[in-house]
Amino acid sequence: MTHPSDSTTTPADAARADLHGRHVVLGLSGGIACYKAAELARALVKAGATVQVVMTEAAEQFITPVTMQALSGRPVFTSAWDTRDVDGNANNMAHINLTRHADAVLVAPASADFMAKLLHGRADDLLSLLCLARPIETCPLLIAPAMNREMWAHPATQRNVAQLRADGTHLLGPDSGEQACGEVGEGRMLEPEQLLEELIGFFRPKPLAGKRVLITAGPTFEPIDPVRGITNLSSGKMGFAIARAAAEAGAEVTLVTGPVHVGTPRGVRRIDVRTALQMADAVIPLAPTQDVFIATAAVADWRPATLAEQKIKKNGSKVAPTFELTENPDILAAVAKQALVEGHPFCVGFAAESHDLLKHAREKRERKQIPLIVGNLGPATFGRDDNALVLVDAHSHRDLPPADKLTLARWLITDIAQRLQSTETPL
Ligand code: CTP
Repeated sequence: MTHPSDSTTTPADAARADLHGRHVVLGLSGGIACYKAAELARALVKAGATVQVVMTEAAEQFITPVTMQALSGRPVFTSAWDTRDVDGNANNMAHINLTRHADAVLVAPASADFMAKLLHGRADDLLSLLCLARPIETCPLLIAPAMNREMWAHPATQRNVAQLRADGTHLLGPDSGEQACGEVGEGRMLEPEQLLEELIGFFRPKPLAGKRVLITAGPTFEPIDPVRGITNLSSGKMGFAIARAAAEAGAEVTLVTGPVHVGTPRGVRRIDVRTALQMADAVIPLAPTQDVFIATAAVADWRPATLAEQKIKKNGSKVAPTFELTENPDILAAVAKQALVEGHPFCVGFAAESHDLLKHAREKRERKQIPLIVGNLGPATFGRDDNALVLVDAHSHRDLPPADKLTLARWLITDIAQRLQSTETPL
């Protein structure tokens, strides 16, 4: 059998993969969202996990174990009476053995019926049995509900959700939107890539638990007339990666972004703005409630002093129009000034330079009066998926080697969390 990741994954990729070394029991209960579980199994394997699929009888009505075996690369378990060995253990106790080396059980889809069963600790099929028999301290249970909106909203289901949470079960979703039945509402299962992101985040350390992090990202767009404006090539990717890394680290994250085409990381509150003034209006009142402020946005330094209400026409003229520009507020400097008085948020700036990176980053850090600035060589990195950074504080600098932006973002967030901790630890 050809393993799904064989053609695309090198050993080096595998070692870098987010779920490398993780063993996940992927449980499927009955629901049309089972078709998404196929893609999920593939994504988990590509992310480096070993995936052991367990299916209920109802799940087999929607998708076959053959498909799930092909995608996970392992035989699928469907029955509590299955006598096959698990990890070389021939004691005929699949319901025990399946979770003894698992890092998590993820039930996706979790039907309303399956959730009700979990709640009562019922164990009349292999999947519910192994959920009950798993070592609760070392093998967390995550479920991705999938059901019709009326079933989800029903008081019985909502009661079950509350009790499952109280019992330590982690709910992923559900999402809201169009459902297989044709109705629209809350109850559809998260998409495979969203579940993957949730699971990766779940396993990450949580050094920013209980902290609030505010981030700016992307370019700003300064209108000249209704159809034109001044902007720049910032893609927002670095800021969005930092937002994801901060959320993975357990922070409550607010991301204020200019116009970009990047998906919002899971669990991040996103505020869309267009101009520097709008960005300042969104950020400055929020900043005093935050523990960390990270300014990655490429804010336009200048905006047209006046906005033409109608499109500026050539009207046969050969003379190009001229614009008067006026300076935009420096959002980072304003927040940093307040932070000097209040003691928070911890402010982090970005400096995109074309040359003399360290020198300019040092000067910029002092000018903005911020404890930390992150230098990178732009514009070569705008829009790319990888980058290299240098962290500059009042005493020294530290190079973060070239890597993809999410890896760099995680290093940066770990660094910031350590700085926060050391300022909070009494001497
Ligand atoms: N910044 C901001 N508001 C502005 C301008 C910049 O918050 N109006 C923030 C950016 O998000 C970034 C840092 O300040 O964190 C960049 O500083 P800036 O002085 O704008 O850098 P450059 O534009 O690169 O400056 P220069 O043209 O002097 O190199």
